[in-house]
Amino acid sequence: VEMGPEMMFEFLYNLPAQFEGCLKMDFSKASGLKKEYANIVVTGLGGSAIGGDILRCYCQSRLPIPVVVNRDYMLPRFVGPDSLVLAVSYSGNTEETLSAYEDAREKGASIIAFTTGGKLAEMAALDGNPVITITGGLVPRAATGYLFAPLVLVLERLGLVSGASEDVKETVTVLTQLREEIEPGREEDSNRARFIAGQLYQRIPVIWGCSSTSEVAAMRWKGQINENAKAPAYFNVFPELNHNEIVGFEVPEDLVKKLAVIILRDPDDHGRITKRIEITKDILQGKVSSVAEVEARGNSFLAKTYSLIYVGDYASVYLAELYGINPTPVQVIDYLKARMA
Ligand code: F6R
Repeated sequence: VEMGPEMMFEFLYNLPAQFEGCLKMDFSKASGLKKEYANIVVTGLGGSAIGGDILRCYCQSRLPIPVVVNRDYMLPRFVGPDSLVLAVSYSGNTEETLSAYEDAREKGASIIAFTTGGKLAEMAALDGNPVITITGGLVPRAATGYLFAPLVLVLERLGLVSGASEDVKETVTVLTQLREEIEPGREEDSNRARFIAGQLYQRIPVIWGCSSTSEVAAMRWKGQINENAKAPAYFNVFPELNHNEIVGFEVPEDLVKKLAVIILRDPDDHGRITKRIEITKDILQGKVSSVAEVEARGNSFLAKTYSLIYVGDYASVYLAELYGINPTPVQVIDYLKARMA
C-alpha cells in the first residue's frame, strides 16, 4: 500500500493509543519464566531494536543486571542459561534477528519473541517459547509504542522492574498534550516540529542528546529523518561529543554552514552537562546554519524520552513534506533485503 504523509501523520497521532493498547495486553504467557537473570539481551534491527535501547536506558538506574542491545546475527559470548533474550521483529522475518534467536536457543537462554507473526512467531511457538503478538498493519518505525512498551511491561510482570505501567500511563498523558501542539493542524509559528523541519530543510541535521537521558531520542531523530524524509542525518551525545566532534566545525566552512544542529535537552540533565551545552553553543556560534533546542516534557524517564521522540517523529514527516517525498515506503531497505534473499 502506498501511503502519503497523511497516513504517517495518522500513525503518529495514534502513538498514545498504542501505549494504552499495550497496558491492556495479556503477558501471562511469559509468567512461567524464571524471575532471576544475570543479564537481559534485546535482539533486533532498526525500528525493532530502538525499543531495546529505550529499555537499556530505562533499566540503567533500576536493574542491578545489564541490559544489552544486539543488532547482529550472533549474540555476545556472555549469553547463556542465565540470560533472558527478548527477540523483537515487527515483520518476524528479519534474517539477523532469526539467526540471533537460533543462537539464543543454542546458548540455552530464556527467550520471549515480540512480533506480528512471520518466521519468528513460528520458530518460537515450535520451541514452546512465549510469543507476544503485536498489532500488524503498520511500518515498524510507526509502531514504536508496540515495539517498546510490551518489553518493559513483561519485565514488570516478571517482577524485574516496578512502576513501568505508571510510567507508560504518564507517557500517554504527556504525548496526548504534546500532540495538540505539533500536529499538522498547528501553524508553523506555534508548531515546534514544523519550525524545526524548516531549519533542517536543505541542511544536514546533526542531532545531539545526552548519554544519560536523551541518547535514544537523538538516535531515533536520526533514524526518522533518514527513513521518513529520505535525507542524511547524524547524531552524537554529550559529554562524548565535547571530546571530538566539536573540533570538526572549522573547515570546509561552506560545508559546516550546511549543518543544522538540534540539541535534545532534559531539565534534569546533570549540572555539568548543562554547562557543557552552553559552552558548546558558544563554540558553534556563527559556524553552523542553526542551533535549535527541544526540551523534554514530563517527569518519568519514559515520558521525557518519548516527548523528545515525538517532536522528532513529527519533524521528520514535515521534512518529508518539504522535500515533496512520501515518508512511508523505504524502497532502499526493501531493495537490499530482496538482494540478500
Ligand atoms: C523501520 C524499518 C526498519 C525495520 C528493520 C527490521 O520502519 O522499516 O528499520 O524495522 O529493517 O525489520 P523488522 O522490524 O521487521 O524486524
